[in-house]
Amino acid sequence: DNRLVGRDFLSLKNFSSDDIKQLLWTAIDLKTRIKENGEVFQPLKGKTAALIFQKRSTRTRLSTELGLAKLGGHACFLGPDDIHLGVNESVKDSARVLAGMADIILARVFGHDFLEILADEAKVPVINGLSDLLHPLQILADFMTLQENFGYIRGVKIAWIGDGNNICHSLMYGCAKLGVDLNVATPASYEPNHAITVEAMKIAGKTGASFNFGNDPVAAAYRADAIITDTWVSMGQEEEKQKRLKDFTGYQINRKMLKEAGGNWVFLHCLPRKQEEVTDDIFYGEESLVWQEAENRMWTVMAVMLHQLQPYRPTIPMPKF
Ligand code: CP
Ligand code: NVA
Repeated sequence: DNRLVGRDFLSLKNFSSDDIKQLLWTAIDLKTRIKENGEVFQPLKGKTAALIFQKRSTRTRLSTELGLAKLGGHACFLGPDDIHLGVNESVKDSARVLAGMADIILARVFGHDFLEILADEAKVPVINGLSDLLHPLQILADFMTLQENFGYIRGVKIAWIGDGNNICHSLMYGCAKLGVDLNVATPASYEPNHAITVEAMKIAGKTGASFNFGNDPVAAAYRADAIITDTWVSMGQEEEKQKRLKDFTGYQINRKMLKEAGGNWVFLHCLPRKQEEVTDDIFYGEESLVWQEAENRMWTVMAVMLHQLQPYRPTIPMPKF
């Protein structure tokens, strides 16, 4: 099955529910083969990736570099001060040069447009390593973690409590595609992007996912199976910090809030985490899946790269999604 070969991975919006399930299946398969069975599996020997980072990263960088190495390939990290791109050379020109040498380009950028130009100009597949609008790799890891924990994804009721940001947007697309129920609570004026909300709701209407939006964290968390949040101050928003901390009052994930909401839940956070958005007892507590989620960033980006470069059929039976 080669339907993912050569495709850019910029937004979950562009992938069918079967495509997303295929990527998750492969990620779980790679984890089983390489981690659990100790197999050396290097189908990407001789393949390379150029990684452009306009912002900092721990997980996205490491998961891609180490994940590609595990599959036999090699990634080259290009930080903000390392290349001409954007300073001395246009995106278009850099894209053409990088595509001449690398088999895949991954980019973490400020404006999402930058990724679109890169993808248009580069003849090799481009991966979104986070933009101001979207972070689809993170949602693959979150879904893989939920699958591992619950044994399925559709049927898990998710509550997003916090900023209507890039992670929230990709979560909306992911839930809409897979038919997963999602409640979103944000402070007023921090709601998710309107156009993305309309698109995601339209997809959700077709798959039967129930979406609710509001400004009440306890209502959103009511009987949720998974509570997800993120920082209140994303990269590039540092000068809004004081205002944001004030505006997000009441949004901290803590025991009192979740007691009021009732239910049994697990906790996810893409990291990096700050104390204001979640208390230590939850973040480090037994309901927290954050370390598994962080590790799954690697297995999922490996699945994306593998499918972009060649057809792959997992060795394990397809899990329930
Ligand atoms: N979750 C995530 O994307 O982390 P990094 O910023 O460390 O890559
Ligand atoms: N919303 C955060 C996610 C970091 C992984 C940011 O954009 O900085």
